[in-house]
This record gives sequence, structure tokens and C-alpha cells, in this order.
Amino acid sequence: MNSQNYDITASSVWDALQRLAEAAPGIRISDLIQQDQDRVDNYSLESAGLFLDYSKNLVTDQVMELLLELVAESPLEDQREKLFTGEKINITEQRPVLHTALRASSARLQQDGLDRSSELIAGQKLRIKALSDQIRSRAWLGSTGKPVTDIVNLGIGGSDLGPKLACEALKEFSHERINCHFVSNVDGESIHSTLKMLEPETTLVMVSSKTFTTQETLLNAQTAARWFEQRLGLVNAYASPHFIGVTASRQNAIKLGIKEGNILEFWDWVGGRYSLWSTIGLSVAICIGYDNFERMLAGAQQMDIHFRESPARENMPVILALLGVWYSNFLAAESHAVIPYCERMLSLPSYLQQLDMESNGKGVTLDNKPVNCSTGPIIWGQTGTSGQHSFFQLLHQGTHLIPIDFIGLLGDDLSSPEHHRVLMVNMLAQSAALMSGKQDSALPLYRNYPGNKPSNVLLMEKLTPETFGALIALYEHKVFVQGCLWNINSFDQWGVELGKALANSLLEGDTELDRSTSGLMEKLDACLGSVGN
Ligand code: F6P
Repeated sequence: MNSQNYDITASSVWDALQRLAEAAPGIRISDLIQQDQDRVDNYSLESAGLFLDYSKNLVTDQVMELLLELVAESPLEDQREKLFTGEKINITEQRPVLHTALRASSARLQQDGLDRSSELIAGQKLRIKALSDQIRSRAWLGSTGKPVTDIVNLGIGGSDLGPKLACEALKEFSHERINCHFVSNVDGESIHSTLKMLEPETTLVMVSSKTFTTQETLLNAQTAARWFEQRLGLVNAYASPHFIGVTASRQNAIKLGIKEGNILEFWDWVGGRYSLWSTIGLSVAICIGYDNFERMLAGAQQMDIHFRESPARENMPVILALLGVWYSNFLAAESHAVIPYCERMLSLPSYLQQLDMESNGKGVTLDNKPVNCSTGPIIWGQTGTSGQHSFFQLLHQGTHLIPIDFIGLLGDDLSSPEHHRVLMVNMLAQSAALMSGKQDSALPLYRNYPGNKPSNVLLMEKLTPETFGALIALYEHKVFVQGCLWNINSFDQWGVELGKALANSLLEGDTELDRSTSGLMEKLDACLGSVGN
């Protein structure tokens, strides 16, 4: 099946699932587990160093079979081949979507007819390696001849979230003498307070922006350039060894003044939110070393192979996607929580918010028609156990259906067995308690816990570059599968453009405003005057 005129809601399987959804409130997940000796085995998958137990979901075998039928009728297989072989599946921007190529072997790329991409990728990987080695070995010198000790990544969205998450999550592998800082927001406090703790002589700024037109990143870069100029007496800091540009628009980086030799490239066929694997990952390679960066790519590649080659019922991204479709489209869940029990993955929910909500927050199909069903859910989360003491109350006794992904490590060399056991036991206890609940008619209702709250448990032995890479690729593919089922373009982000354009017009002062916004603007102008205009 191809995506032309595909409508998931038109299938007879959709109607059958709707009928089963009506019966779902009468089903207890705990009964499903108790009654079926094989359920836990049948509802578990292992791949690329990740183990998924999805037995605690509100799905019967019949529901799973129908969901699998839904996927068989969908354009997934066709679209997946197009993804891996570089067809222009991002139709509104007329671009291929080739983040998977960034982590594929050159033999695989040649098999897929992607020889040219393979060459480009190999060339930029050499540059990531050379640059990161140079910085890590203290051979990259600032304008006064001192080695760099601090790098500051200026970028936002995909040019920030992925590298920041990877550097934090893979802290165990980070260089002791090189500190990585990330500034994304245009809130001046952020860049000012970061620069305040740094020495300009030993600081390197990486301006990371696919387009090199992003207002926030360019203003932060300008502030950093002035800081270098004032503190080091430089005439044009952009052209100094204190600036590197990472971009898909070489000419825009050159226009800003960055030296040609200090520009690393990637390409328009790498989406911003999928760019961690490209030269945008330079900060990661500097932080954890190029070999570990390669290990991260290798882990993601393993997940790519699993996704491309495994049958749907054994395919981890497909199963996660189908469960999400079941909850969103049939049981009216509006959000999905991701709770990593690992403080180093604190930024994972933010990362997944962009990945999922910028990809699948769409209301129009690939055929340019309004969608007939709800699409991407609201993604949110926090680390456990911290979340247990804030929003878990709502998960246990609130009125919303919120499926959860719990993510945990079996072992953690940065923790201690005593701490780690408490952490992990808490995670397992939460997933069990949410499922079982506790009913006691002798107690008032507020002391009763309805239970039957679904969750997945994703485990990995340790948080290594490989398992981290596989985890991120798993979510990328889950989002892709859902996009195929809903027949939307998961690779554009036109919605973001309207706000950007209005902010620019407001800054220029050349737009007609509604009375509410103009009143608020007057207050701002009265306070700030024309500063920033
Ligand atoms: O505004 C959304 C967005 O285009 C994201 O998709 C992207 O990751 C981010 O802005 C940053 O864009 P750039 O890398 O071009 O600065």
C-alpha cells in the first residue's frame, strides 16, 4: 500500500478496534497477566541492547492482532523503504530524510544507491574526528595560544537538544578537562551567566544551526563575539579560532564571518530534530571522544537494522507505535509520559517533545486533506523517583488515561548498588502499582486506587553510547511509524513558522496588531524603549 489516498480510519480493522475499545474499560491488565502464563514472554522484545516488557498494557491478544493488521494495510513498508533509500518523503520541502544514512555502513549505503551521500558523510565524519581529537588533545589553540578548555554550543531545537542530552546521558565517558556548555534560549541571562564563568582565551564557541538564520542562535553568537572582542581585543571574533560553525548553509556561516576552515557541514536531507548523528554531534564527539561517538552511531544503526528487517510483531518501534495509536485513537488518551529512572536522562523528555511533537503535531495528511483522527500525543515527563513526589498522584488517582514509558538501567557504574537498587525497585513498584491499584471497600474512596494504568518498561544493561544510540533511534522510528499510520508528513514543521514570522514583524514594528497584543506591546515598549530594535 502506498500513501496516496490512504485513510487509516476507512479500514474495517479500524471499526473492529473501535468496538473492542468500547469493551476495554471492563478489562483488567492484571487479569490479563494472571490468566495468561505466556503473556509476559509474548509481550516482551529484545533488540540492540534494549529489553521491552509491554505486558502491562490495556491490550488483549485480539487487540494486538488487529493493530498488526492495521499496520499491514498501511503504507509503512513502502514508506520505510523510501526512508532508507533516500526518496523525497518530506514532500512539503521536497527532501529525502536520511538521518539513518548518518549511522549506516558505507556498504549498506551503496546497496541502497546512496553513494554520493556516503561520500559526503564519510568526509564530514573525518572532520568531526580531526576536530574533536585536536580539541581533546589540547592542540586547538585560542587566539592567545592557549588550549581550549571550554566549549559553548549555541543552538536551539534540534541544534541543541540532542547534543545536550547525549553529553549529559553519556557523562560517564566525558573528558575530565573539557567542559561542554549549552546555551539555547535568547534569554540574555543564559548567555551572560555562561560567559561570566568562562575565560575567553580558553573558550571555543560552536554556532550550531542548520539554517544559520535562527534569530536566537545568531543573537547569542553576536553577544559571544562581542565578549571575545572586548576581552581579547579581537577585531572580528567570528574569524578567530574561538568560533566554529556547524550548518547546512555554508554560505550563511561565511557571511557571518566564520572562517571557511572552521565550518562543518551537514545537509538539508538531515532534519533539525534528527541531526544529533551529523556534525551537529560535534560537541558530543568532543565531550565523549570520537570513538564513543561512533559507538553511539553503531547502537542507533543496530536499531535501524532491527526496524528495517524485523517483522511487525517482533519490531520494537512498530509495537510501541501501535500501542500509542491504540491509546490515542481508540481510548482517547491525549498525552504520553516518559519517565527515565536515571538522572542523567533528565533532558530526555524535552528531547522527545521536539522529536515527537514537532514531527507528528500535524493535522493535514500527505494528500493535503484534514486528518480524520487525532495525531501525535502531548509528550511529557521527568526523571523518577523525583516525579513520584510531584505528578505521580495524578497518574495514580487522576482522571486522565496516560500511558507511560518507564526507562531503567540494570546496572550503573556511576551509582552504587545500594542507591541503584532503591532507584530501580521504585520504578518497578510504580509500574506494578499503577497496574494493580488497590481496592478496599472498607476504606473511603480517596484511599482506593483504581489501577489499570498502562505502562511499558524499557530496560538496558547499562547506559552506554550503544544503548543510548539505540534508545534514541527507537523513538525516532516509533514516531515515523505513527506518522505513516496517520499518513502525515513527520518531517516538516510549518507550524513553527507563523510565530517566528510574527516575532520578526513585531521586532521591526511593521505589523497590524490585535488590541490585546498591541496593549501588551505598549507596556513592553514603555519599559524597554527601543532597545533591541
Ligand atoms: O523552529 C523549529 C526549528 O526549525 C527546528 O526544527 C530546528 O531544530 C530549530 O528550529 C533550529 O533550527 P536551526 O538549526 O536552523 O537553527
